[in-house]
Amino acid sequence: MERSAYKTRHLVVDPGQPDAAIIQEAGALLREGELVAFPTETVYGLGANALNAQAVAGIFVAKGRPADNPLIVHVDSPRSLERYIDQVPPILAQLAARFWPGPLTLVLRGGHAFAPVVTGGLDTVAVRVPDHPVALALIRAAGVPVAAPSANVSGRPSPTTAAHVLDDLSGKIALVLDGGPAGLGVESTVLDVSGNCPVILRPGGTIQRDLEAVLGEVKVAPDVDGGAIAGDRPRSPGMKYTHYAPRASLVLFEGYDPGRVAAGVLDEARRLVADGRKVGILTYRETASLYDGQGYSVVVVGKRSDPGTVAASLYASLRRFDYLGVEVILAEGIASDGLGMVVENRLRRAAGGHVVTL
Ligand code: TXA
Ligand code: MG
Repeated sequence: MERSAYKTRHLVVDPGQPDAAIIQEAGALLREGELVAFPTETVYGLGANALNAQAVAGIFVAKGRPADNPLIVHVDSPRSLERYIDQVPPILAQLAARFWPGPLTLVLRGGHAFAPVVTGGLDTVAVRVPDHPVALALIRAAGVPVAAPSANVSGRPSPTTAAHVLDDLSGKIALVLDGGPAGLGVESTVLDVSGNCPVILRPGGTIQRDLEAVLGEVKVAPDVDGGAIAGDRPRSPGMKYTHYAPRASLVLFEGYDPGRVAAGVLDEARRLVADGRKVGILTYRETASLYDGQGYSVVVVGKRSDPGTVAASLYASLRRFDYLGVEVILAEGIASDGLGMVVENRLRRAAGGHVVTL
């Protein structure tokens, strides 16, 4: 299907009270095989009917996504999974009771009921129940499970507003439901429960500590930060691609002492500015005053001591550097636990190995 011919529609809905007629119409579009972007509590998703192979294939075309990177299937309740998964494991009920609806994606065995392009040929499928009234109402109105990756062009930062979605996908999809900014700002945690021991394949909105409170020890896949592991195939196919990357190249500065890190960033910014480069600095409220912004742009992404504020505006901040025409982003690292660990993971992946340790 030729999708570049779309005049993408943009409809604003009140997340507190989504307009029923709009939701019904959007649900019908999804059911009939069109692509509809919608807000979730993490980032905006690009939805397609997970039972319709042609519709799902359209997601890969619109995003320019590699075909071997499987999608998350979104459902409105754990019960509706029973129709599509032959053997729902007992661990699912335990995790669903505590974390769904919410930012936790579970990788399960099975999923053969879905279009094969959803799982990219794997014998597992990723599923979640999103915690957003517009997403839930849409899934219910569609009456089908909804395959949805983040609604960005592949490799770009995930969209946290409808404007970001339109920047990337306008003309390629039927509709964007605009429910305002996504709350969390980073994607769901992907937890593989298909084996003997649960493994975090992608850190995200549900933090490791909270999972461990329910499950005991939870492992983290060794390749989550994008480091190649010789001879090992990534468990989560998406992790082998550069991700969350703005158009500018990003250099990440890490270290225990934030003042020392900031001093290193400032040195490098001055050197690059003297070289005629267009530089942007990604910093936090605590260290922002160390930069005078002379000849470079400074974006304060949130409070280092409150990583939730950083997660919420991380992707919008990375996109802002693009709007500013920045060529090189120098980013300060953040402490690596809880949501701070999630932010650090996204920064490392955006840096694609350009990490300076001070
Ligand atoms: O918060 C989120 O998860 C958002 C919203 C829209 O729900 N979605 C999202 O989807 O981030 P996406 O496609 O951008 O990322 C899905 C990740 C990828 O890293 C993919 O490789 C992994 O989940 N994944 C999907 N199915 C998998 C499977 N069967 N086994 C292992 N990893 C899988
Ligand atoms: Mg994505």
